[in-house]
Amino acid sequence: MRINKYIASAGASSRRGADELIKQGRVKLNGAVITEPGCDVAEGDVVAVDGREIRPAAQTVCYALNKPPGYVTTTSDDKGRATVLDLLTDVTVRVFPVGRLDYETAGLLLLTNDGDLSNHISHPSHKVYKTYSAEVRGDLTLDALRRLREGVPIDGRRTAPAIVELKKQKGNMSLVEIKICEGRNRQVRRMFEAVGCKVTYLQRTAIGEIRLGRLLEGSYRRLTPQEIEYLRGC
Ligand code: URA
Repeated sequence: MRINKYIASAGASSRRGADELIKQGRVKLNGAVITEPGCDVAEGDVVAVDGREIRPAAQTVCYALNKPPGYVTTTSDDKGRATVLDLLTDVTVRVFPVGRLDYETAGLLLLTNDGDLSNHISHPSHKVYKTYSAEVRGDLTLDALRRLREGVPIDGRRTAPAIVELKKQKGNMSLVEIKICEGRNRQVRRMFEAVGCKVTYLQRTAIGEIRLGRLLEGSYRRLTPQEIEYLRGC
């Protein structure tokens, strides 16, 4: 197996990320640093990244979690806060979150042991739309909705076109469904800030066609092989 595929199927990074790790001299094959991304790993070889031995997972697994607010989307937190992994009480496979939901954001979070799958879902070029339901305070005008759809500047760079639907409006409160395919830091909140509004509650309800559905807050389910194949093919 190619070394970059080996590293990705161990969940240590995506295949592209593995090439970078190799270039940076962080990968050892049988104790020797390698610099050649095209090399193969044979049965019995030992591969280590940053000094830690890795092994490819026998099988890709992916879980859909309904993240409650108040959990950090990391595998460990130096401030001692609860992480999303604390919610996966009976999962024995080492998984990591696909992308990130903010501490206060709720909803659908995927976790997998497969670096390539994670990269595929997250990379904007694959246009896997993430759907959010946002409660918003402020004067959300038709012009603001148009600007959100066309893209607004965040950190000097315009956001990619979004699909935005106003579901309800009462006084200065609106309920909006917004679909984006990028995953920039606090993107939805900052998009609404860019049009003068504030998100007061944010929940992710779908990733592509994988929906949160009736999954209770704090609970999770394993995706079926068909769902994993669907995500790989997006
Ligand atoms: N956009 C945000 O602002 N926060 C999230 O957690 C996800 C998308």
